[in-house]
Amino acid sequence: MCETTSTPKFATGDRAILPEGASTIPIYVMGKMYEVPETLTIMKAMEFAGFRFLRGAGCRGGICGACPTVFRKAGDYKLHYGLACQTVVEPNMYLAQIPFFPANRASYDIEEMSGLADAIHALYPELFRCVSCNLCTKACPMDVDVLGYISALKQGNIEKAARLSFDCIQCGLCASRCMGEIPQYHIAQLARRVFARYIQPQAEHLKSRVTEIEAGKYDQMLDEMSGMSKDDLEKTYVDREREPDMVEPGSWMPQDRQYL
Ligand code: FES
Repeated sequence: MCETTSTPKFATGDRAILPEGASTIPIYVMGKMYEVPETLTIMKAMEFAGFRFLRGAGCRGGICGACPTVFRKAGDYKLHYGLACQTVVEPNMYLAQIPFFPANRASYDIEEMSGLADAIHALYPELFRCVSCNLCTKACPMDVDVLGYISALKQGNIEKAARLSFDCIQCGLCASRCMGEIPQYHIAQLARRVFARYIQPQAEHLKSRVTEIEAGKYDQMLDEMSGMSKDDLEKTYVDREREPDMVEPGSWMPQDRQYL
């Protein structure tokens, strides 16, 4: 997950420089107290304190799900959940990083599935161990209705489950709290795959574009770009035709339509 280096006097780069006049607050990482600027996210505060993330950090933008964090606050019995890259530190937080939670993941070939709801039930029979305690939903840092999609799947409603779980970032905090030992996030991913492969109507324009790609329509252009120097590539990018920022939808077309 992370390791400590010597505590820097001033953080640099992604660690954020302590703003003038900002005060520091105590937080606890793996039980040890560190003084960190009150303005930082948990991730930056840990880096400020000297930790270096080898695992448990990815996008730093709340998308990849690599940085789930569990914490308690002094004087509060409740467990709280958040993403280290998004949650700002508070005084006397007791933090535990959960960059990976071991959860059962079924293996399947999405092209070989039939009896869709039954197939999901067969791959993940532990779905029916759900006791509707709702701890999964409470643990979700993305406010996904985890119990809602688990209940929908038990009833065989794959579309509802796919839609309810759309914002899931696969951090695994739901599974970490489940007394039924259900890997909710893996099951939701399967539901979205099944929905996209078998239930959602296919977009015609996407189908025809894929056919064009497979037929090699873009091969020459891609070969040319792959052979360009960095400067030429940058110039090509900067000089490209761009849709104006303010334009009526559907009223703009590029001059060069060779690859449309
Ligand atoms: S680092 Fe990607 S969600 Fe936090």
